Formats: sequence, structure tokens, C-alpha cells
Amino acid sequence: MRVLGIETSCDETAAAVLEDGRRILSNVVASQTIHAEYGGVVPEYASREHTGAIVTIVERALADAGVEYDGIDAIAVTNRPGLVGCLLVGVSFAKALAYALDVPVVGVDHIEGHIFSSRLAEPELVLPAVCLVVSGGHTETVAIEEWGRYETLGRTRDDAGGEAFDKVGKLLGLSYPAGPEIERLAVGGDPTAHAFPRAMMESGNLDFSFSGLKTAVRYRIEDLGGVPEGDVFRDLLASFQTAVVDALVTKTMWAAEERGVPTVCLGGGVAANGVLRQRLAEEAAARGFSVVIPPKLLCTDNGAVIAAVGHSLLERGVRDDLTLSVSASREAARAGRHVS
Ligand code: KG4
Ligand code: ZN
Repeated sequence: MRVLGIETSCDETAAAVLEDGRRILSNVVASQTIHAEYGGVVPEYASREHTGAIVTIVERALADAGVEYDGIDAIAVTNRPGLVGCLLVGVSFAKALAYALDVPVVGVDHIEGHIFSSRLAEPELVLPAVCLVVSGGHTETVAIEEWGRYETLGRTRDDAGGEAFDKVGKLLGLSYPAGPEIERLAVGGDPTAHAFPRAMMESGNLDFSFSGLKTAVRYRIEDLGGVPEGDVFRDLLASFQTAVVDALVTKTMWAAEERGVPTVCLGGGVAANGVLRQRLAEEAAARGFSVVIPPKLLCTDNGAVIAAVGHSLLERGVRDDLTLSVSASREAARAGRHVS
């Protein structure tokens, strides 16, 4: 079965063709640049950019995969959570195409897409596992009991991990999204130069909080008399990055130990961060967990992971119809869902 996966929940227009739930025949991602100067995604601009890009991106995904429209057996599309105007572009396109091709359409939870990056990267992944999902909008540790059955163990009480990178980047005059830029500029910086807070580190508490860290960085910039340059700038970035990574890795290890799972895995845009990838791999290995760290292109928003969730749903007899709707939150109205 070949599934076309479509993702338009935020600022990436993405499409991919996935064969048999495993083989990625193509994975095309177009990141919108229009938001760079605003310090965050401007929803109306984002929907408009999706509308302009979606046909080109889907056709490129088909061309890269070497298949025609009639070589697609089903369409999976992100329908929650996300910016409603953005989700509507992907879902409307997916429904129209499914109708024209007379193939099933299935709505996918974006966060489940991030969880599935580990399954795509490692099809033999042993469950149960604990997955750290950390993106621009979400930060949580999830127990994967089986594919499709999850339990959230800890979540952020305020900012998401990626949001912390983006907001601190804005304070420092960097453009959106700031995560990749902070990682690049922090290279060579001293991560111990500034003792930034790690919130809620009392044992047993699996939740995260990053807003205090952001405020601490703001005060430090004021103490320094403005945004510093050179080594002082690098040290500030490295210290901030390490504070985020420390909290993420520590809580993930606690969650995995509490659940007694054999495997730890990682997903979401911040999972592209090299320091996080390395620290998680080291700490997991030190505790005897096996670890799955998907390639970066599968961590940031993309259509392949959406197609993978769609394939898994269809395999279990789940499909939607043309009444499929969108939702800003994860608890979507399930209009049109059929389970056979
Ligand atoms: O999952 P994603 O692509 O979109 C959402 O679902 O939000 O995640 C985007 C987030 C942004 O906040 C971005 O700054 C962050 O992931 N990000 C990074 C890196 N690459 C992307 N944060 C830190 N280091 C990176 N290398
Ligand atoms: Zn995402």
C-alpha cells in the first residue's frame, strides 16, 4: 500500500509517499521563510503560503517517488493539533484528492506523527518505550504501550522546548525559528558559564517548565548591558541550551526508569538539536536503555511520519470520510471516522 502523507499544521508545507508503512519513496518539505522577522508564526500568512505551495509540493513528492496520482492507495493528512487555517489547507486538499482518486482519507494527530519517527527509523523498535516529544508547540514524555496506545507521563506547564529556543532567540535579536541558529552559534561556548535555573527538578515530578529560564536569560542580558558579542554571546547561548537539554534528558530518564521500559526514543523539531541527541544517547546508554534517535529530517515536521501513522490506522481498519474536520487541540471532533 502506498500512502501519500500531507502536513500543513504550522509553517512547513510537506508531502511524502510511503510504501508498506516503511519505505520512504519521497519526503518533500518546504519551510516558510515569511515569519523570520516576526519572531513567531503569523497564522494568516502561514495559511496563505500553504495554499500557494501545496500543489507543487504534493506533485514534487509524487515525482520524487516516481508514481502518478493513480499510484496512490490512500491519503493521510494532519488534522490536529495546529493552526486551524493551516490545517484546513491540508485537509481540504487531501479530501478533494481522495474524492477525485476514490481512495480513503485518514486524519492524523501531529504529535503521533512525531512519535512515529522512531518507528520509521527503527521498524524493530521494542515496545513499551518512553518517547520524548519536543517541538515548537509541545513538550511531553509519552509511554508507547503499543502503536496507537499512548500515555502522557509528563508535559510542559508553560512554554514548549522549541518555544523556549524561539523566544530566547527573539530576545537576542535572532530570526524565527531560532533553535537551529542558537545551536550553530553556541558551538565552542562554555555551557557552565551561566548557572541558569532547571525548573521543577524535585524527584518524581515529570513535568517541565521553561518560562523561568527565558526570564533568567532576559535578566542576564540586562546585567550584561545588552546582547553581548563574541565569547560572552557564545557562553550565554551554550549555557541556555544546556539548561534546556538537562531538563529534557533528566525527566526522560526518570520517566523511563519509573516505567521500567527497555527503550527510549526521541521526536519533534527540537530533536534535531545535536547536543540533545548526544546527551540523550549517552544518558540512556549509561542506564542500559536502548535508544532510537531518528534522522533529523524525520524529527522536524514532515509528511513521511504522517503517512506512517496513516498506514498504521488504515491497517487497523480506521478511516475517515469527507466530513473529516480540523481541530486546534488534540481532542478532535471525530466526525466521519469509521472503524471496521
Ligand atoms: O516539530 P517542529 O518542526 O514543528 C512543531 O511541531 O512545532 O518543531 C519546530 C521547533 C521550533 O521551535 C524550532 O526552533 C525547533 O523546533 N528546532 C530546534 C532545532 N531545530 C528545530 N531547536 C533547537 N535546536 C535545533 N537544532
Ligand atoms: Zn511538529
